Amino acid sequence: MNATGDYRKLDQAHVWHPFTPMSVWLNDDPLVIERGEGCELIDTDGNRYLDGVSSLWVNIHGHGHPAIDAAIREQLDAVAHSTFLGLTHPPAIELAARLVAIAPGDLTRVFFSENGAAAVEVALKMAYSYWRNQGQERDRFVRLQHAYHGDTIGAVSIGGIERFHDSYRPLLFATAELPAPYCYRCPLGKEYPSCDIACADELEPLLAREGDRVAAVVVEPLVQGAAGMITAPDGHLARVAEIVRRHGVLLVVDEVATGFGRTGRMFASEIDGVEPDIMCLAKGITGGYLPLSATLATEAVFDAFLGAPEEHKTLYHGHSYSANPLCCAAALANLAVFEEERTLEGLEPKIELLRELLEPLRRHPNVGDIRQRGFMVGIELVADKQTKAEFDEALQTGAEVARRARPKGVIVRPLGDVVVLMPPLAMSEQQLNTLVRAVAEAIDEACAAVGSSP
Ligand SMILES: Cc1ncc(COP(=O)(O)O)c(C=O)c1O
Repeated sequence: MNATGDYRKLDQAHVWHPFTPMSVWLNDDPLVIERGEGCELIDTDGNRYLDGVSSLWVNIHGHGHPAIDAAIREQLDAVAHSTFLGLTHPPAIELAARLVAIAPGDLTRVFFSENGAAAVEVALKMAYSYWRNQGQERDRFVRLQHAYHGDTIGAVSIGGIERFHDSYRPLLFATAELPAPYCYRCPLGKEYPSCDIACADELEPLLAREGDRVAAVVVEPLVQGAAGMITAPDGHLARVAEIVRRHGVLLVVDEVATGFGRTGRMFASEIDGVEPDIMCLAKGITGGYLPLSATLATEAVFDAFLGAPEEHKTLYHGHSYSANPLCCAAALANLAVFEEERTLEGLEPKIELLRELLEPLRRHPNVGDIRQRGFMVGIELVADKQTKAEFDEALQTGAEVARRARPKGVIVRPLGDVVVLMPPLAMSEQQLNTLVRAVAEAIDEACAAVGSSP
C-alpha cells in the first residue's frame, strides 16, 4: 500500500471528523492533503486541487504566503505561547489596535478567543452581562431564521438550521426568531424586489412586545453563510439596525464568515453603514493560517464591566490559548498583506468576473437560484425549477457535485444541495474560470446521475 493508502487506513481506524456522517466517510477514499501553494491544495499523490471554499472559508491570500509564513516563524523565535490571563504581549496589543482602527463604528475593545463559535459565546455573555451589570435582567436573544453562529451550546441556541441544531434542542435556551431574508423561498411568501424588506420589519412588533427582555439582536450581516449563502437584499441590515437602535437593544453582528473582504469590503456591516455594539470575527482573521477569533465591543459595553472585583462585573471567560502570540502574529501579517497587496482594490473586477462566469449556469434546469455577494456564492440545486421542489435528501446531490468536481481538480464543499464557492481573495481570473467550469460540469454530471438529467 502507498503512503496515501496507509494514511486513509489509519484515519478511518482512529479519526472522528467534524460535521461528518462517519458511516459514509468509512466507505469513502478521503483525500489526504499534504501541502498548499497559493490557491491550490496538493494531496499525498501530488494531485493539485483549487481550494474552492478557502479551506472552509478561512484562507484569504493563498496558502504559503511568504509574508504570513515569515511572521509566524519570527514570532516562533520569540515565544510560541504565554498566557493572556494576567499577562499581555506585543502581537495581541498591536493586533487589538489594528482591529479597532479598521472596524466599523465605535468598536474600541477587543476580546480574543480561538474560533467563531467562541467569539459568539463571548458576545452572548457580553450582551447578557452588559444589562445584568446595570441591574436589568434580560435573558432573551433575537436571531435570524436559519442562523448559524457555531457549534457550541450558546451559539447553537441562537442557531436555526434544522439539520445541525434540532438534535440538541432540549439543551438550548429559548430565543425569538426573525424571518430570514431568503428571497428565493421567502418565509412571508413575498416576491423580491417588491417585498420592501418586510422580513426586517417583523422585528418592530417583536421588540415592541418583548424588547425590554431582549439583551441583543444577533445577525449574520448580508450573508447567512451556513444556511446556504442566503444573501440579504440591499437595505435589509440597515433596517434591522435602525429598529434595534430605536428600541435601545444591543446589536451583535457576526462577521465570522463575512469579515476580511469576503463581501468585497473589509466588513459586510460597512456596506449598509451599520455600527454594531458588538462584532464577532474569526476565520479570515489570520488569513486562514491559525485559529484565532475576536469579539469587539464599544466603550459603552466595556464600561458596564468596570467595578470592584467583589462586585463580580468581570467577564468570566477565557481559555488556555486565548490570544496565542503565533495566531496574533499571523493576523497582523494578514492585515499587512491586505494593505501591501491592495487586496480589496483588486477584488472588484474579480467579483464581476465571477458573476459573469456564473451567469450561464442560471439557465441550468436544476439550478434554482444563484446567490452572490462578493466572493461568497451559493448555487441552489432543485429537482424542479418551476415548483422549486428540492431533491430527495437521500440522493445527496450537493455532495455528489463535490465528489465529481474532485477529478476535475477542484475542491468544494456543499451545504445540503447548495453548492458553495468561496475562493480565497487571491484566486486569479484564470483559476476562477477553471473553478466555475469544473463546478458547472460537476453539476451536470451529478444531476444526471441522481436522475434529473438536464
Ligand atoms: C457566521 C458564522 N459564525 C460562526 C461560525 C463558527 O465559526 P467556527 O467554525 O470558527 O467556530 C461560522 C462558521 O461557519 C459562521 O459562518
